[in-house]
Amino acid sequence: MNKPTLIQLACSLSRCLRTGRAKLIGLSAAGAALTLALISCGTLTHSIVAPPNIPGATFVGTKACADCHEELVRDFKTAGHSRLMANGKNAANAGCESCHGPGSLHVSSGGGAKTIINPRKDPQTCFQCHLEIRAKFSLPYRHPVLEGRVSCGDCHNPHKGSVFKGGGATNIMGKNDVCFQCHQAQRGPFVFQHEAVREGCTTCHDPHGSVNQRQLIARNQILCLKCHFQQQQVPGRVSAPGSLMIGDNNHATNVSQGTCWSGGCHEAIHGSQVNSHLRY
Ligand code: HEC
Ligand code: HEC
Ligand code: HEC
Ligand code: HEC
Ligand code: HEC
Ligand code: HEC
Ligand code: HEC
Repeated sequence: MNKPTLIQLACSLSRCLRTGRAKLIGLSAAGAALTLALISCGTLTHSIVAPPNIPGATFVGTKACADCHEELVRDFKTAGHSRLMANGKNAANAGCESCHGPGSLHVSSGGGAKTIINPRKDPQTCFQCHLEIRAKFSLPYRHPVLEGRVSCGDCHNPHKGSVFKGGGATNIMGKNDVCFQCHQAQRGPFVFQHEAVREGCTTCHDPHGSVNQRQLIARNQILCLKCHFQQQQVPGRVSAPGSLMIGDNNHATNVSQGTCWSGGCHEAIHGSQVNSHLRY
């Protein structure tokens, strides 16, 4: 067999890691092709990749999964992660087992319980490669993924098509529909919809985690001024010193009293049934 396998990739990596000279893996996206470049034992880089471990199990390759998970293997070609490849002399197809761990025991036991990693129960398998996402999930306001109440797979497609649910041209789900699966109240319909919502929930929220309550990307009016910033000096008009003009109204006192969405102002931030200024 001259095709290098994941086993070799794993071995060479663990050798690097053992010698403490793990130089990792550079992650890059070249055009549409996502590549995983193995840089060799040495110094620094982007992130560490050690495949998930299942004691006693070895890698068997994606083809072995097809016997029982035919449809998943067939569709996997279209998945973003299927294009992950390790370059170099240990080049290998990082297939199903890059997320699920080595599958030999699972295969030999005909799919026995506790023989394979399911990221729905254990997102650590994603964090091996996505370190920056792990950091976000350690922030105080985040989705309860580590608690097992929400899965990466609720918002991302691991097996098919765009990694982003609601991301592909052929996907009938819009990007906000991903969130509406669980957050119906923000869907509306509203008599007065806040146009910002059309740009996407992530213009204001970071679903992976934030230091701000409600997973907001900013904790005060800065969030709103991204879009509602208004020229303070209007030619031909004198505005009071220290004024903060938003929507042609001086908001200077308002913003000292709390956030734009608390304190009786724009509480119906996603949309209102009664008031164009987004009030209840
Ligand atoms: C001999 C048949 C067989 C083969 C080969 C096989 N599986 Fe499975 N697998 C099963 C069965 C049976 C189940 C449990 C029933 C179900 O959920 O479909 C299962 C379940 C799973 C689960 C869910 C486990 C859980 O705890 O929720 C994952 C993940 C999985 N398989 C991945 C793989 C991967 C990756 C491969 C290839 C390395 C593979 N399977 C090969 C039979 C197989
Ligand atoms: C990018 C990581 C990743 C890769 C690669 C991957 N999976 Fe999965 N797999 C997941 C996640 C995440 C879940 C849990 C989905 C959820 O939360 O609903 C999962 C769940 C499963 C399950 C449980 C049943 C189900 O559909 O939820 C099976 C079986 C499975 N995967 C098989 C495979 C096979 C076979 C391959 C290769 C063709 C593969 N996976 C490749 C991440 C991955
Ligand atoms: C073996 C390493 C590896 C594993 C394991 C892995 N990923 Fe990835 N993933 C990558 C690489 C490499 C890319 C493409 C480069 C990049 O954008 O970081 C990528 C891309 C993505 C993207 C798209 C990023 C973008 O900006 O387009 C998402 C979303 C994602 N992965 C989620 C997951 C989830 C969820 C899991 C676990 C179920 C997972 N990944 C497991 C390596 C991995
Ligand atoms: C509640 C939904 C949700 C969950 C749960 C979720 N993500 Fe995401 N993720 C998103 C959205 C939405 C984006 C796109 C962000 C944007 O539009 O800027 C994204 C983007 C990403 C990206 C691209 C890089 C980036 O920071 O934008 C990666 C990688 C990723 N997610 C990995 C993961 C992993 C790994 C998990 C599980 C540990 C996870 N996500 C759980 C919604 C989610
Ligand atoms: C699978 C269900 C699910 C999906 C999909 C989902 N969420 Fe959530 N969301 C939750 C759960 C569960 C909580 C935590 C609620 C709690 O702790 O009481 C939460 C909490 C939140 C919160 C904080 C709410 C608060 O009261 O502090 C925000 C904001 C949020 N989600 C936004 C989003 C966005 C944006 C998306 C789409 C990118 C999304 N959610 C997708 C289930 C989901
Ligand atoms: C213009 C910025 C903005 C956009 C866009 C936005 N949100 Fe929010 N969201 C907020 C603010 C501000 C709060 C805090 C409201 C409060 O604490 O009273 C919030 C609160 C929430 C909450 C907590 C419950 C609540 O209503 O107070 C959830 C859940 C939520 N948003 C989900 C979503 C979803 C889903 C989307 C996309 C459909 C979305 N948000 C789009 C600004 C935004
Ligand atoms: C992504 C850009 C964006 C962000 C961020 C944003 N908005 Fe908006 N908002 C708009 C657009 C576009 C409109 C509709 C056009 C207009 O009235 O300026 C609008 C309209 C409004 C209106 C109705 C104005 C009227 O009189 O009809 C209010 C009130 C409002 N936004 C408050 C807020 C608050 C409070 C925040 C911060 C939580 C915020 N917006 C964040 C884009 C945004």
